Parts: sequence; structure tokens; C-alpha cells
Amino acid sequence: MLTKLPSYKKLQQECEGIKNQSILSFFESEPDRLENMTVDCGEIHFDFSKNLIDANVFSLLQSLAKEANLGSAIEAMFNGQKINNTEDRAVLHTALRNTSDVIVNVDGHNVMPDINAVLEKIRIFSENVRSGTWRGATGKAITDVVNIGIGGSDLGPKMAVNALKKYAQKGLNSHFVSNVDSTDITETLSALNPETTLFIISSKTFTTMETISNAKDARTWLVAALGEGAVAKHFVAVSTNKEKVAEFGIDTDNMFCFWDWVGGRYSLWSAIGLSIAISIGFDNFHNMLQGAFAMDKHFRTAPFNKNIPVIMGLLGVWYASFCKYATYAVLPYDEYLKDFPAFLQQLEMESNGKSVTKDGKKVDYLTSPVLWGQAGTNGQHSFYQLIHQGTQVIPCDFIVPVISLNELGQHQDMLIANALAQAEALLKGKSASQVKGEGTPENLINHKVFEGNRPSNTILINKITPFTLGMLVAMYEHKTFTEGVIWNINSFDQWGVELGKQLAKVILKELENPEQNAETSHDESTSSLIEKTRQIRKGLN
Ligand code: F6P
Repeated sequence: MLTKLPSYKKLQQECEGIKNQSILSFFESEPDRLENMTVDCGEIHFDFSKNLIDANVFSLLQSLAKEANLGSAIEAMFNGQKINNTEDRAVLHTALRNTSDVIVNVDGHNVMPDINAVLEKIRIFSENVRSGTWRGATGKAITDVVNIGIGGSDLGPKMAVNALKKYAQKGLNSHFVSNVDSTDITETLSALNPETTLFIISSKTFTTMETISNAKDARTWLVAALGEGAVAKHFVAVSTNKEKVAEFGIDTDNMFCFWDWVGGRYSLWSAIGLSIAISIGFDNFHNMLQGAFAMDKHFRTAPFNKNIPVIMGLLGVWYASFCKYATYAVLPYDEYLKDFPAFLQQLEMESNGKSVTKDGKKVDYLTSPVLWGQAGTNGQHSFYQLIHQGTQVIPCDFIVPVISLNELGQHQDMLIANALAQAEALLKGKSASQVKGEGTPENLINHKVFEGNRPSNTILINKITPFTLGMLVAMYEHKTFTEGVIWNINSFDQWGVELGKQLAKVILKELENPEQNAETSHDESTSSLIEKTRQIRKGLN
């Protein structure tokens, strides 16, 4: 338990005092601050000097990590130990991008040959689709690939395909359908030609309600146009569940496997990344794996004071559990990264949105903050007001690729200037005397004051490439892991999503059978909403 670690009390005391000190003053009192609080890892430059920590807190946070045995926890994950204790599973997304010769065992079985065999299958299939060798049932090449999946079977590949759009093959379009809302599949299909469309049904379990119903709709649409015999040429599956794939009617030769030791939100490196490989090509997909592998090596070997994911995780714990800052913003200054906050929401909040320790004891500290964000500069014209002058302190990550993939006039300099200026404004603020000095009328002074002292990280990346994107994603995965270890929670289960799923099944039956009495087990409000819904929907029939 975090609260029992020797450094916990000291950090708690430090937190009380530090909130009244200025980050700017630390730059004066610590001449080496910038050097000590920046890390370079390949094309990533991480500057965490604008945080509400001094050298002493930074050192205490590293002690906390040691007391929580972070080092051995990292090794346990990489070595395939069953660290997902509530599901008795290993956690080996790192093996999926292990581009070295190192063997990784699960229950005494080396998983690397299995991983490499699936990668080879992905290579062949993606190259065949891209070259037009793989043809639809009527002999036409594929022009549109639709990934049907949800959660980790959607957010990761969608984020990566969009982030790497610049590397995509022209004339081969990617689509993502996830929501059970029929508008999603209807709108997507409305623009497509069945003869040239390939569906990838992505689901670890192959039982997820949203995915299976969307996949059935896609199948009906295709069969109506091309007949039952066309399914084999237009449907492939990515799953761990062979039986369910066969039951659905997809030839298991057209199935790409992965394994129970790959968590959904960590699965874009597995066959779940098939849509990425088709879009950007296998070599680029492989570069992405190599980028993640480079970050894995950094995470595994760099000392804690120069280890980007460890530092990010320690700051995450500091702000949530000690400073009690309940939200955290991720602000990528790159349009290609517009889906990155949504991807991170699942990664961090599904992983660390827990309130019991690994052995089931209630925690008495805040765990995962609410993560949110949007690509810059749009947010500056909406919610940044609150970040600068609201009553809550919101730690921010500014992610800034320096070279644009679409350099155009002054745009990139303007974009970067804005990102750096926001971080500077949060740090420095603007005092009442400065505001006054600008000739501001007395009655407006308080309105124009910026308290400043608001923390942020700045992550400069030379340029978005498959390799650097791989590094970036792995960096946040390991940040999330670090936090989970210190909070002593299981970051790899997600029991919190189950109750809503169970109750939805009950309500679905009631909506489908309006003549039957509704369950009496509902609360009064839910019963009334079900009844009201039934009345409105009666008009449909
Ligand atoms: O409901 C949550 C969840 O289990 C996620 O963890 C997962 O990524 C998503 O559903 C999709 O699951 P599947 O890939 O099995 O369809």
C-alpha cells in the first residue's frame, strides 16, 4: 500500500509546503535544474522542469519508486510473469515488439515463434491487399478497409492509422466502426462499394456486443450485394477466439491470432494492428514496433532519474495522490495526433481507474486522474481559459512534433510558438503589479491576473514517423504501468466495465418485448425511463 511506504509521509509533508512555493524560484535555487530535469531518448526530448517539484521531491519520488520495487515489477512484466493477478495472466505486449533474439516464455513456452508467425502472416496479407493481389469476390482490388471493433480493438489502430496518414497508400482508405449506434455502420457503409471493401472484424473475445452486431450488419450488406460465397474474400478476423470466429462464418484461414496475455488497450502491436499494416505498409508497421522496442529498452535500463516513463509516472502519482489534482490534460500540437487523447483515455483510465489494491484492499489515496485533451491550438480557444484561470490545477503534457509533415509557410513556427507560449504562461502567470503596470483599470486587475505556477511537461519529438509514434505510445504505456505499481493496483484487468454490460442485457430484453412486464429489480428512475422509451418506440412498429 502506497501509504505504508517510508517516503509517503515525507512526500505528504513536502506537498503541503511546495504548493506555496514558485516553480520559477526553483530555477534560481537549483542551477542544474534544466539539466537534471530534461531527458533525451532518440528523437524525443522530455522537459519536466516546469513541474511543481524541487530537487528534494524528485529524489523522494525516486525513493518511492524503489520502495515500491518498481525495478523488479518492470522485470516481472518483461519476463512474462503473471502480473495480472485477478485474471491469472502474463502481460506481454512488450514481447509483440521484441525485435531482438531474446526468448520470452509464458508457462515455459517461448512465445516469440508464435508472434513472428503471425507477423509474417500480417506481412503477406497486407502486401497482397496493398498490391491488389488480394481481390474481392468479383475480381476487383480492395480500395476500402473497414476495421470493426471497439475499445482496444478500435482506439489503438484508429489513432495510429490517423497519426500516420501521411505514410498511407493512396487510393486505399481506412475506416473504423465501433459504436453500436447504427448511425456509425450506416454512415460508413453508405459511401462504400461492396466489391472493393474488406472488413477486419477485430475483437479479442469475439463476443463483444457492439462489434458482433456491427459485423453482422456488414455481412448482411455484403451478402445482399455479392452473395454468401463472397464472405471469404471480404471478411477477415483478428481474435484470440477461434471457435467464435468460425461460428460467425469467417474462414479461420483468414484469422489473425493473438493471445490472452495481450490486454485490449495494449493490443495495437498485435494482429489488432492489421489495419495499420495495410494502411502504411508492413515495413512502416515494423518500424513502429521498433520504436516501441527502443522505448522498452529505455524503460528497462535507464536509471529512474533519467527514465522518461518512470518520471512521468512518478509525476502522475505526485499530482493525483499527494497534490489531489483530479484531472490531467494531454495536448498534442499536431493534427495527426488528434485521436491520441482518446486512445490514452482508455489506456490510463481503464488501466488505473481502480480503488482496490492488487490484494483487494480499499485504497485511501487518489489513483488515476481523469485524462482529457485535444489537439492544439483549438483548445486554446475553448477550455484553456480554465487551465489558466480556473480554480483547479490541471497538470498538462504538451506534445510538440517540431517538423511538420506538411510544412507550409509560417504555420509550423506559429504552432510551436503557441505550444511553448502556453507552457510558459502556465509557469510564469501574470501578477497584479504586471497587470497594473499595463495601465489596466483597477476593477479589471483581478480578472486579468494569471496565478501561474501551473505545472506541465513538454515533449518535443523531431517529427511524427512510425518509429517515433511507436516510442510515444510505449512511453505512455510504461508511464501507466509505473503509476499502477506505485498505487499497488492491477493495471491489467477491467472489471469496472462489466456491470453496465450485464444490466444492458436485461434492459435490452425489456425493450425488445414491450408487452412483458419490466424487471422489478430496477430502481424507480430506470423503470420509468424504460417505460417512457417503450412508449416512444411503440410508434415505430
Ligand atoms: O469493455 C471493455 C473491453 O473489454 C476493453 O478492455 C476492450 O478493449 C474492449 O472491451 C473490446 O473487447 P474485444 O476486443 O474483446 O471486443
